[in-house]
Amino acid sequence: MQLIERARAVLAGGCDSPVRSAWSVGAPMFLQAAADGPYAYDQEGRRYVDYIMAYGPLLFGHTHPALVTKLDSLARHGFVWGSTHSEEVRLAERIRGHLSSMERMRFVTSGTEAMMSAIRVARAFTGRRRVAKFAGNYHGHFDVALLEAGASAGGAGRGGITGGVRREVAIARYNDLASLDAAAAGIEGDIAAIVVEPIAANMGFVPPAEGFLAGLRERASAWGALLVFDEVITWLRFGLHGAQGRTGVMPDLSALGKIMGGGVPIAAFGGRREVMETLAPVGQTFTGGTHGGNPFCVAMAHRVLDLLEAHPEYYAAMESVAKRLATGIRAIFARRGLPYAVVQAESIVDFKFRAGAPGRNYDDARAADAAAYARYYRAMLQRGILLPPSQNEVMFVSTAHTAAHVDETLAAIDDSLEGYLGLPGTSHDSNATS
Ligand SMILES: Cc1ncc(COP(=O)(O)O)c(C=O)c1O
Repeated sequence: MQLIERARAVLAGGCDSPVRSAWSVGAPMFLQAAADGPYAYDQEGRRYVDYIMAYGPLLFGHTHPALVTKLDSLARHGFVWGSTHSEEVRLAERIRGHLSSMERMRFVTSGTEAMMSAIRVARAFTGRRRVAKFAGNYHGHFDVALLEAGASAGGAGRGGITGGVRREVAIARYNDLASLDAAAAGIEGDIAAIVVEPIAANMGFVPPAEGFLAGLRERASAWGALLVFDEVITWLRFGLHGAQGRTGVMPDLSALGKIMGGGVPIAAFGGRREVMETLAPVGQTFTGGTHGGNPFCVAMAHRVLDLLEAHPEYYAAMESVAKRLATGIRAIFARRGLPYAVVQAESIVDFKFRAGAPGRNYDDARAADAAAYARYYRAMLQRGILLPPSQNEVMFVSTAHTAAHVDETLAAIDDSLEGYLGLPGTSHDSNATS
């Protein structure tokens, strides 16, 4: 039996996370056999330049020597202890050194857990139940987070969520303070938290508009709610001080994850001391977990910080590769008369098959031509480039990507647009087949 059939016979839907099934691009699920630097390899040993990068964690590519060597020395100390230890404390100190808003924190295993815990703490601290969030942001797969979520949850995240949960969530449009005011009208005094991706990357790449985050800060303070930044993608992608350092807007609570583990599962949530002190044993609110702060993942997180503190030049190098990619795509679009905006910030590159200015919210993201993206995804795959199998995602560049990879990618893009999308000028040939 083929692996894909075996997968479907034992894994629900054949996979552990729906986006991997490639359902939204009408392609067979990508079955990966190996990875190395910027490359993914399929079952047949074919090599692909990988821009999924595990949906964000792989800032250094798949196999940076500082992360994949001497793992046996870590294993010799054991993987999980179930006790507090000095490296865990030192990691928290290092994080607080970079993110001063995280006066107290707790380590967990996934971004989902971090955001779920932050919301519980916000509710406990404020004594309120409602949460304000933004359509197209993704915060993980717990109930509150899935309402109008971006990423691969878009369109499929409704089952199993009770009406009670729905009534507790106010959903607003990203980059639109008036829509938040409308969603919160009359219930401001019952909102425990405003949760947001401070730089959004789950409806394509959408930076915050001028004044948007400051507007959230003002409203949270005025309403007596907490501002929760989901920095699961942005911390370390946008530097050691994250989106909060970049934008200068301080949240009450933050969630971290992805890059911080260098590929292994570790995440964190934290914020103001008095807020975090609602947690037991000081307060009456519970979070805990078998793997929280386990020494193996903590050691990997130290390795990530060691790398980034010792090599600030990595960021400029990644940005220059990403710029080359974005500039090259813009040139191809200009030559072909295609009206798509290419966005690039640090090591993120993105465009949508939608004419006009870059998207500002989930309505814009949903207006993009999904069929064109599906054809483009399949054409690129045939040319050895692995893109995310959903147009809600973005391309991630890592320290392992070089100008040569970009040039290979640009040639594949140009060729894909020619041969598969049938896009002479601006009119799509929607009957084009692959
Ligand atoms: C911004 C953001 N928050 C939270 C999460 C959830 O993290 P995890 O998949 O580790 O549970 C994700 C995952 O993609 C994310 O992008």
